[in-house]
Amino acid sequence: MTIKMTLVLNTLESGNISEQIKALFADKNEEIEIVNTAEMKIAHCVGCNTCWLKTPGVCAIKDDYEIILKKLVATDNLWVVADTKFGFVDYRGKQVLDRLVPMLNMYIEIRDGWERHQLRYHPLNFGFIYKGNGNRELLEEWSERVARNMAGKSLGVMALDAPQTNANGNVTETATETATETAAGTAQDAAGTTAALPEHIVILSGSPRVKKNSNTNKIIQAFAEGLEKAGITHKLYSLSNHAEWDEAREAFMTNDNIIIAMPLFVECLPSLLLEFLSTLPTERKQPAKLSFILHGGFDEGHQLRLGEKFLQSLPAQLGCSCGGILVKGGSFLLRNRENSYIKKMTDKMLASYTAMGLSFAQNGNFMTLEAKKFTGPEKNPKIGILLFNLIFKRIVKKNFERIAQKWGCTEPLDRKPY
Ligand SMILES: Cc1cc2nc3c(=O)[nH]c(=O)nc-3n(C[C@H](O)[C@H](O)[C@H](O)COP(=O)(O)O)c2cc1C
Repeated sequence: MTIKMTLVLNTLESGNISEQIKALFADKNEEIEIVNTAEMKIAHCVGCNTCWLKTPGVCAIKDDYEIILKKLVATDNLWVVADTKFGFVDYRGKQVLDRLVPMLNMYIEIRDGWERHQLRYHPLNFGFIYKGNGNRELLEEWSERVARNMAGKSLGVMALDAPQTNANGNVTETATETATETAAGTAQDAAGTTAALPEHIVILSGSPRVKKNSNTNKIIQAFAEGLEKAGITHKLYSLSNHAEWDEAREAFMTNDNIIIAMPLFVECLPSLLLEFLSTLPTERKQPAKLSFILHGGFDEGHQLRLGEKFLQSLPAQLGCSCGGILVKGGSFLLRNRENSYIKKMTDKMLASYTAMGLSFAQNGNFMTLEAKKFTGPEKNPKIGILLFNLIFKRIVKKNFERIAQKWGCTEPLDRKPY
């Protein structure tokens, strides 16, 4: 029997827990390597796409993550050990997963009925070990989704605080696990529909991408046009610019109507946004309504549902009521205006965000039927999948190759550099 290679990325900051981690795998016939990432220099993924379109498989950020990428190409099982915040993986844990992108390539295929990026290497199984108050159900679903992204299977979720947990996935709940679950699904602001309509809205862009290249920014601009039509003013803060964080925090704490717009990154929020959120005080002097715009690259609505579930639980944890979540996929090409077909498509989508801006101005929330319908189809219909496989897949592939050429890429997009 071949021995499986298991890589454990321990992102916890305090104490050496290698022995505790090793004990979790004691009964497994696996070769385990534990890497303590807190001792490494690892930045947030900024979504620059260099690893897909310019230097295929090689990240543009020159930090210690390359050491991890080189280990991952020889790994069967990946476990991440992290603390939890807001019931979910904290930003340090999410950071090492957002940086996994070079393990995939730009090409798109449909796997198990879901739109997916092609694997650059082999399938990777994924498991998550957490400390603190994790929302176990959410973490399990997230773990499944991350594994599916990598064409692997979920290895399960283990709570580090529970001495009885082992790597077989038979985990007994700890007393702390369910503490944050109560907020999910109950934080929707029932009073939202009757509350005073907004006059001024603070909008935070949670995209790690620089403002001028960000699809989130395009969405916010279009949405704000709708607000303006109704005479509502707004102030935008872009979290990709660290210099704006202090002002953004101040605006968050002193305004009563806030929208955070963000792209989906590895099934949930980008690590950069999770970091910002974890710096916010949880108690505020005056009430506020917090609403969200969540968008992602793939078209299907169900790709965004785990992120939506997490966001539902967030306002209550930040001392706010929830104004609802506007959910939509298919944003990948918004910043691209390269031919008349793409331009027409993106103009149409941006116009629909302007209409939702107007709707938000009139209703004060995203809890309307109109907002619910905005997501579009949950899954691609069978005929859509068939057409994609027969025709569009090749067109999309050619399109990516053309963009890569423009970016000065001289390598095949599915190159395996390690
Ligand atoms: C690291 C990373 C992870 C991503 N993960 C997902 C994902 O899980 N699902 C999805 O639909 N799109 C995913 N995307 C695509 C982005 O959500 C999409 O391209 C979005 O339009 C980017 O918005 P921005 O330009 O404002 O950053 C990911 C992109 C990056 C860079």
